[in-house]
Amino acid sequence: MDLHLRRGRVIDPANELDEPADVVIRDGRIDRVGRDLATPSGAVVVDCDGMVVAPGLVDIHVHFRDPGFEYKEDIPSGLAAAAAGGFTTVCGMPNTKPVNDQRTVTDRMLARAREAGLARYLPIGAVTKKLEGKELAEIGELHEAGCVAISDDGMPVWDASVLRRALEYARGFDLPLIQHAEDPTLSQGTCMHEGPAATRAGLPGQPHACEDGMIARDLEIVALTGGRYHVAHLSTAGAVRLVRDAKARGLPVTAEVTPHHLHLTDAACCGYDTSTRVNPPLREQSDVDAVRAALADGTIDAIATDHAPHSSIEKDVEFAYASPGLIGLETSVGLILKLVEEGVLDLPTAIARMTLGPARCLSLDVGTLSVGAPADVTVVDPTDAWKVDANAFRSKSRNCPFQGWELPGRAVLTVFEGRVVHDLRKLTT
Ligand code: DOR
Repeated sequence: MDLHLRRGRVIDPANELDEPADVVIRDGRIDRVGRDLATPSGAVVVDCDGMVVAPGLVDIHVHFRDPGFEYKEDIPSGLAAAAAGGFTTVCGMPNTKPVNDQRTVTDRMLARAREAGLARYLPIGAVTKKLEGKELAEIGELHEAGCVAISDDGMPVWDASVLRRALEYARGFDLPLIQHAEDPTLSQGTCMHEGPAATRAGLPGQPHACEDGMIARDLEIVALTGGRYHVAHLSTAGAVRLVRDAKARGLPVTAEVTPHHLHLTDAACCGYDTSTRVNPPLREQSDVDAVRAALADGTIDAIATDHAPHSSIEKDVEFAYASPGLIGLETSVGLILKLVEEGVLDLPTAIARMTLGPARCLSLDVGTLSVGAPADVTVVDPTDAWKVDANAFRSKSRNCPFQGWELPGRAVLTVFEGRVVHDLRKLTT
């Protein structure tokens, strides 16, 4: 379907554009962007007055549990959740069963995603075989098969010599390594952040040093090897300082933050809601303040959801026994608009951190409205206030700590490669 998105506020950070304009989509590509464009014959006109027309959003950190744990999420349900949340590109972590540590797994993931056709699914390959942290996976083969980065996410690459070899090897392919920065000797047996809230809750906590120490060590190995290093779900003020310093040193370092680490503190765990059990854990207010400031000033390049679905089997248990993780694809835009409402960052910066920023972290050729690019477009209504009801989500899982929150706006239309994959208000019918 050809589309004429008329008179929206077009925000395209890659082209430094923020102005009232039309976007015309033809044959699955961005055909024109400009003022008062003529409607091509047969195109459907969408009145975007009052709405933001942005490049399709990019999430470089999701867990779709496919293969292996499809009862939590499979690739089609994950992609449906992505489309509903305004995402047209998502990058899937390899902690599936089997682990995505070889080409056959990557091939299957890509085939499943193509069949679903709701968003672009770009797999991330494992750093080590079976995520065991010992022997390197077939990184070259994974790269060739279409993996856009490597990570043992869920687990850190703990052994320094393994990290060194992985960075050296991945450098040959210009492939970023995404680190889950957690010192296991400090996190073992813990289920939240260490501090007064953990004392109050009577739960074992892990200190800031668990994340900060690992990143500090890693950065020296990055300096040694010159390999590209991306910090997953950065959550502490100390990690912000380390990344800021590393960037000032000119190291090839990038970082992401999740919407939940931008909004919640460890106090949320005191109600024992297992959807607040997540790795890294929700931190303190001073950490939330630091990651917010770092997102605004660009020290943190990207917002990534770390969408981590778990079923009631893993979550309807005592807090300490619950699997860590929460779902994020369908609340991300609303939560980021809330940050804009609170004055933490302006709207163009927010869009940049959900499009251009993440695309750059992994060198993905997406996240722009450039003429000729695949027509991945998200229309956001920043004033369509709504109340979170996880039971209405497209995701198969319900582990959402934002249930009942009032959010200021959301994605109302998602176009992937020129096809409408989410149309909340039936704007195109
Ligand atoms: O809370 C988390 N859950 N953090 C991770 O790094 C992994 C994820 C998962 O796979 O459930």
